[in-house]
Amino acid sequence: MKLMIIFSPLLLLLLLFSSSFLFLAVESKCMGSCGLALASYYVENELSLSIINQYLSSSVAPYDQINYEPILRYNRNIQNNNKNKDLIIPIGSRVLVPFPCECQPGGFLGHNFTYRFQQIDTYERVAIRRYANLTTEGSLQGRNPFPTNNIPPTAMLNVLVNCSCGDESVSKDYGLFVTYPLRPEDSLDRIVNSSGVPGDVISRYNPGVDFSSGNGIVFVPGRDPSGVFPHFKSSKQGGIGVGVIAGISVGVVVALLLISFFIYYAYRRKSKSTVFTTSLQSGDLAGTGTRVFSGIAAINVDNSVEFSMEELAEATDNFSLSFKIGQGGFGAVYYAELRGEKAAIKKMDMEASKQFLVELKVLTHVHHVNLVRLIGYCVEGSLFLVYEYVENGNLGQHLHGSGREPLPWTKRVQIALDSARGLEYIHEHTVPVYVHRDIKSANILIDRNFRAKVADFGLTKLIEVGGTATRGAMGTFGYMAPETIYAQVSPKVDVYAFGVVLFELISAKAAVVKMNESVGEFKSLVGLFDEVVFNKETDKEEALRKIIDPRLGDNYPFDSVYKMAELGKACTQQNAQRRPSMRYIVVALSTLLSSTGNWDVANFQNDDLVGLMSGR
Ligand SMILES: Nc1ncnc2c1ncn2[C@@H]1O[C@H](COP(=O)(O)OP(=O)(O)OP(=O)(O)O)[C@@H](O)[C@H]1O
Ligand SMILES: *[C@@H]1O[C@H](CO)[C@@H](O)[C@H](O)[C@H]1NC(C)=O
Ligand SMILES: *[C@@H]1O[C@H](CO)[C@@H](O)[C@H](O)[C@H]1NC(C)=O
Ligand SMILES: *[C@@H]1O[C@H](CO)[C@@H](O)[C@H](O)[C@H]1NC(C)=O
Ligand SMILES: *[C@@H]1O[C@H](CO)[C@@H](O)[C@H](O)[C@H]1NC(C)=O
Ligand SMILES: [Mg+2]
Repeated sequence: MKLMIIFSPLLLLLLLFSSSFLFLAVESKCMGSCGLALASYYVENELSLSIINQYLSSSVAPYDQINYEPILRYNRNIQNNNKNKDLIIPIGSRVLVPFPCECQPGGFLGHNFTYRFQQIDTYERVAIRRYANLTTEGSLQGRNPFPTNNIPPTAMLNVLVNCSCGDESVSKDYGLFVTYPLRPEDSLDRIVNSSGVPGDVISRYNPGVDFSSGNGIVFVPGRDPSGVFPHFKSSKQGGIGVGVIAGISVGVVVALLLISFFIYYAYRRKSKSTVFTTSLQSGDLAGTGTRVFSGIAAINVDNSVEFSMEELAEATDNFSLSFKIGQGGFGAVYYAELRGEKAAIKKMDMEASKQFLVELKVLTHVHHVNLVRLIGYCVEGSLFLVYEYVENGNLGQHLHGSGREPLPWTKRVQIALDSARGLEYIHEHTVPVYVHRDIKSANILIDRNFRAKVADFGLTKLIEVGGTATRGAMGTFGYMAPETIYAQVSPKVDVYAFGVVLFELISAKAAVVKMNESVGEFKSLVGLFDEVVFNKETDKEEALRKIIDPRLGDNYPFDSVYKMAELGKACTQQNAQRRPSMRYIVVALSTLLSSTGNWDVANFQNDDLVGLMSGR
C-alpha cells in the first residue's frame, strides 16, 4: 500500500504530461475552451431529476442518484426543499444539465456519455427518449459496434452530445452554450424570449438553421448559476508552440499540486482502502483533461460503504472457520459484527474490475425489504462484499436440510410472495433494471420472522464485466431457463428460475432430482412436474398429492397448492414470452396468500379439528 502511495502521483505526472500534450494538440482544432456546456433536456414524460442526472452524468459514479446539486444550480426554478429527495420534473419543462465540453477527435466539441442499454431500448429510443434528442440515432449507430437489431442487454453505449464554446467572430460576450434540441413548438422568437439573447446573435451562431423546423440541435448562449453570461475564452493564445509550452508548464504545476494533494490524501486515509479510490480519481482527472469545471461541484467519492481489510479481519478472527457460515460458487461467507450491525461477509478470490466497482456503488443504493441489503465492500487483496445478516438460513436449508421444522404451507406462500416482490422490484423499479440470473432456494434467505429476502442480486454482473469467477456458466443447473444457452437474457430467466423455486416449495425436492442413483439418472424438477403432474393422462389431484412435501402431512389446502403448481408451470414454459411477469406473479401470490391465510387462521382456531380435517 505504501508503494501505491508513492507511485500513484508519479504515474499521474506521466499521465498529465502526455494528456496535456495531446490535449493541446487536438484542442487547437476546436474553437473556444470553455470546458463546460449545458444540455437542454426536454421532459416529455414525467421523469425524476435523478434519472436525468443518471443519463447525463459525467462523474465517476454515474449512478450516484443523490448528487444532482450541480443541476439544481443551473435551474433555480426547480424547487429544492430536501436535497436528498428525488424530484419529479413536470412534463413540458426543460432542464439544463451541465456537462464537460471537450475537443473530440475530428476537431469538434462534444462529450461522450455512457448509457447502459436496457431490454426495451433501441438506438432510436435511446436518442429520442432517453437523451431527449440531444443525440441522434445515426450518431449512436456510428459510434457503437452493436448491430441495430441485436444490441446485447446491458451493453454500454457511447453517446455523443455535441456542444459549443462560442465563436470569437460572432461575439466575445458569450462563452457558455446550451445544446438545445429544437421542438415543433419552437421558433426563433420563443428562443429569444426564453434566453434573453438577441435573435441576430443566435442566428449567427447557428448559420442556416430554421428554428421552426422542429428538429435538429442549436447552440444558444447560456447563463452561469449567478445569472450572467460568461465571456468567450479563446483557446489560441499566440502560436501553437507557445500554447504547447504554456500547456506543459500548466500541466507541471497542476501535477505538482495534485501530487501534494494525493500524498496528503493518501496519508489521511491510510487505514482505508486507497487502491480503489486513488485509481478511480486519477483516472477521472486524466479523463477530463485536468480541467476544473467552474460549474460542476467537486466529485465526491463516497467512502461510507468501504471497509478496510483490517476491520473485516478483526471482526471475523482473521476469517477463521468458526465464523464461516456458508460456501458458495464464488467463495466463502463469514458472520461478523461490523459497526454495531450483524453482517455476512462474502469473500471472493477475484479482482473486481473498475466497472464492477461502479456497479457496487449502485447496489449499495438499492433498498427493498425483500432484498438482502449490500452494506459495503472492500477490495484489498480479495473482493469482499458486506451484506446485512439474515438470521434464519436459506430456503434450501429449510426445505431440504435436516434439523429444521417443516415450513407450514402459509409460510411457504408468504416466502414465495416476499421473493417475488424482491424480484419485481429489481425488474421494474430499479434504474438500471436488473436481471438476477441466479435465483434458487440457496439465494432466498429467511429472517427470524420467516420473511424472505433475495440474496446476491447484481452479483452475476461480476462475470459479465470481465471478472474471473471460479464457476463456468451463469446460473445454476436445474434453474436455468432453456434460452440461456443462446445467451438470451431477459427478466424472464428469473421468472423461470422462480417457477422452479415454487415447485421446490411444493415438493421440497431439489431442482435436479436423483431418480435412480445407481444408474446416475437425474431429472430436472421442471421435467418431473411436467411428467407427473401436468401429464394429460393422470388424475392431476392424485398426482400432485403424491409429489407434495411429505413433511406437510395433510396440513395444506389443496386448492392453494394446486394454484401454486399452476403458477410454477406458467413460469417454466419453454417460450419465455409466454411466462408471466413478476408483477403478475406478485398479484397472483397475494391473492393466493389472502385465501390461504384464512385457511390457516381457521385451522389455528380449530386446532383440535386439524386431525379431523385431514384429507381436507
Ligand atoms: N446475508 C447473509 N446472511 C446470512 N447468511 C448468508 C448471507 N449470505 C449468504 N449466506 C449463507 O451463506 C451461504 C453461501 O452463500 P453464497 O451466496 O456464497 O452461495 P450460494 O447462495 O449457495 O450460491 P451462489 O454462489 O450461487 O450464490 C448461503 O447459502 C447462505 O446460507
Ligand atoms: C425527439 O424527436 C422525435 C422526432 O422528431 C419526437 O417524436 C420526440 O418527441 C422528441 N423527443 C423529445 C424529448 O423532445
Ligand atoms: C456532432 O458534430 C459532428 C461534427 O459537426 C457531427 O458530425 C455529428 O453528427 C454531431 N453529432 C450529433 C449527435 O449531433
Ligand atoms: C469519445 O468516444 C470515441 C469513440 O467512440 C473516441 O474515439 C473519443 O476519443 C472519445 N472522446 C474523448 C474526449 O474521450
Ligand atoms: C415573449 O414573452 C412575453 C412576456 O414575457 C410575451 O408577452 C410574448 O408573447 C412572448 N413572445 C413569444 C413569441 O413567445
Ligand atoms: Mg448466494
